[in-house]
Amino acid sequence: MNQDSKKKMVAEAAMEFIPEGAIVGVGTGSTVNLFIACLAERRDSIQAAVSSSEASSALLRKAGIEVLDLNSTGTLDVYVDGADEVDRHLNLIKGGGGALTREKIVAAASRKFVCIVDDTKMVDILGAFPLPVEVIPMARSYVARQLVALGGTPELREGFITDNGNEILDVHNLKIIDPPALESTINQISGVVTVGLFAQRRADIVLIGSDTGLKRVP
Ligand code: A5P
Repeated sequence: MNQDSKKKMVAEAAMEFIPEGAIVGVGTGSTVNLFIACLAERRDSIQAAVSSSEASSALLRKAGIEVLDLNSTGTLDVYVDGADEVDRHLNLIKGGGGALTREKIVAAASRKFVCIVDDTKMVDILGAFPLPVEVIPMARSYVARQLVALGGTPELREGFITDNGNEILDVHNLKIIDPPALESTINQISGVVTVGLFAQRRADIVLIGSDTGLKRVP
């Protein structure tokens, strides 16, 4: 089975977690794009969506789904999003698409975070995928030096500006043994907007598409 079929499998499976009349938190990325297509088919059974990126907002609107401002909704029942890496404790690396800040906000404001991935995203230890860190542009070099001191090799994502007008450093060569601790440490560097480690608010459920079918953790 190819990767796209596995992504489609988990996108469809996520629909089970969407309550009738819900305002759904929607992530960003190719897996979520397939989830948005599933949501579109059931658009009459949901109220609206809160989106984590301009790209997802555009797709949702095109599908006829209203996109609400998080400030007007209160806590969301469920947030559905992909990930770049997932460990067995459901800690995640996210931000490959650069949407990590709004993703983290919507995840934090949701009761349940359902993460949808194909099995290539499952790892023993996070860090083979370069860890995205969104930074205020004037702090880029300072933050990069601090990340080097932590053992990483940061690389500016050339020509990329986030939806929030900031830049991204992709940090290579990290072996992330203690994800919540590293998340706190990087959060405390002045100039960091968001680190793409989702450990303090990790996924509650991970749906994994594999050759042998759908798997769910826990
Ligand atoms: C977006 O910034 C990311 O966090 C995505 O959720 C992540 O990169 C997964 O994307 P794909 O579903 O395209 O693999």
